[in-house]
Amino acid sequence: MVDPTPVVPGKKESPILEAIAIAKSFAYDGARIEVLRNVNLSIAKGETLAIVGASGIGKSTLLHILGTLEKADRGKLIFRGRDLSDYDEKRLARFRNLKMGFVFQFHHLLTEFTALENTMLPALIGGAEKERARATAIEMLERVGVADKQDRRINRLSGGEQQRVALARALIQRPDLLLADEPTGNLDRRNSQRVHRLLLELNRDLGMSLVVVTHNLELAAMMDRRVTIVEGEIVSAEI
Ligand SMILES: Nc1ncnc2c1ncn2[C@@H]1O[C@H](COP(=O)(O)OP(=O)(O)O)[C@@H](O)[C@H]1O
Ligand SMILES: [Mg+2]
Repeated sequence: MVDPTPVVPGKKESPILEAIAIAKSFAYDGARIEVLRNVNLSIAKGETLAIVGASGIGKSTLLHILGTLEKADRGKLIFRGRDLSDYDEKRLARFRNLKMGFVFQFHHLLTEFTALENTMLPALIGGAEKERARATAIEMLERVGVADKQDRRINRLSGGEQQRVALARALIQRPDLLLADEPTGNLDRRNSQRVHRLLLELNRDLGMSLVVVTHNLELAAMMDRRVTIVEGEIVSAEI
């Protein structure tokens, strides 16, 4: 089955990521709840996509599956023509490190470490030499506007600053795809708007595709496309 939502004009190049007939259920109270039944979704290079909808419909589950953080029960994930089902956990970890960036509602930064140390980490894990990782991390912190705070520990930064550092960390490996789960769900309106603008600026300047789960209709409206999940399938969302 094909992705039922329209392709954005000018962003029709070969898809960066395709989800085909994805299904996922969870055991709950002795029964199984089928959260995703038949998800078909194609994400184009450079595209921005919002996943919207009520709490509990499976947005985070879908995002985790798209990011290979969680395994689907059925279906396939194709990344630039390569079937990820063939990858073992070690290869997937390497793949995620190089190709995917993640931002969550709660930043998941290491609070006892500095902004710079946190940002460098994916590059170091990816095998970069320390000085190079440091230089790239500083570049990214500049890019998201918190380079002056690079030596501060995370727990000494504001919520907005922490989320900027999380973005810098997500982007240090120059991923093809940035996946964000309610990235501003924890920020006040002013900081949310700043981070929204920044996300779109980064998408434009760095060219990565962007998939954002959000309750924020302003942010959803800024995206190329909006989808939601109805009875375990992807449909276009009207907002
Ligand atoms: N690990 C899990 N174990 C059991 N149930 C889960 C698990 N993860 C999610 N669910 C259930 O799946 C449904 C969808 O969850 P989720 O993807 O987090 O929704 P959303 O992000 O749209 O709020 C919910 O009913 C949730 O309780
Ligand atoms: Mg969620």
